[in-house]
Amino acid sequence: MNKISSLLGTQNVKFNLHTVDKGHHKVTYRGVKTIKCPFDFVIYQMIIFEVKPDLVIEIGTNNGGSALYLADLLNINNKGEIHTIDIENKIDPLALAHPRIKFFGNGYEGYDLDAAKNYETVLIIEDASHMYKDTLNALNKFGSLVTKDSYFIVEDGIVDALGLSRKFEGGPLRAIREFMKGNTDYVIDRKWCDLFGKNATFNVDGYLKKIK
Ligand SMILES: C[S@@+](CC[C@H](N)C(=O)[O-])C[C@H]1O[C@@H](n2cnc3c(N)ncnc32)[C@H](O)[C@@H]1O
Repeated sequence: MNKISSLLGTQNVKFNLHTVDKGHHKVTYRGVKTIKCPFDFVIYQMIIFEVKPDLVIEIGTNNGGSALYLADLLNINNKGEIHTIDIENKIDPLALAHPRIKFFGNGYEGYDLDAAKNYETVLIIEDASHMYKDTLNALNKFGSLVTKDSYFIVEDGIVDALGLSRKFEGGPLRAIREFMKGNTDYVIDRKWCDLFGKNATFNVDGYLKKIK
């Protein structure tokens, strides 16, 4: 019996990190594949409402389901744009046609930071290769764009807990640790990381709040 089922007093509840991981690859939003775990799906809408960003830069588009979700959330705020970046163009036509979404096809390396000028409130989401070096490079390239009280969200530090750290050369968590060493501009916001329990998120220690 796992911890949750013993708490609920039933053995009919059987899920764990691996079942959630499997399920999150099947999540869709408005029919478009959206690789988000349920905890983060909820946290994102809370953050978009709280921060009310003028620009969200999403590194890692895939089919564009997350960009579509974020763009619809921006509609509720009545402001904001998404720059979503990938190296492959597999974005769904529904996401591409959204008036708040602009797609950039040259990877985070090829994104011209000038495109992010003139936005008052900027939020960044890093959800690309999850390799340690790419994640750290993206943190270093985009970190200064994030505005005070907004976030740099680093996705998928969960690869460690899934036993995949070596495949990603230490992955996002190693990159976060290195980026945060001596960094006084950001704090790891426990409010989001621990909302449903300690690091009950796929973005383990990945909600970085800019404090100055
Ligand atoms: C995990 S998926 C993104 C999932 C998407 N954000 C979602 O929630 O549905 C990762 C994506 O990152 C892209 N990618 C890989 N290297 C990249 C790079 N250097 N710059 C931008 N995107 C990259 C991959 O092509 C892939 O589509």
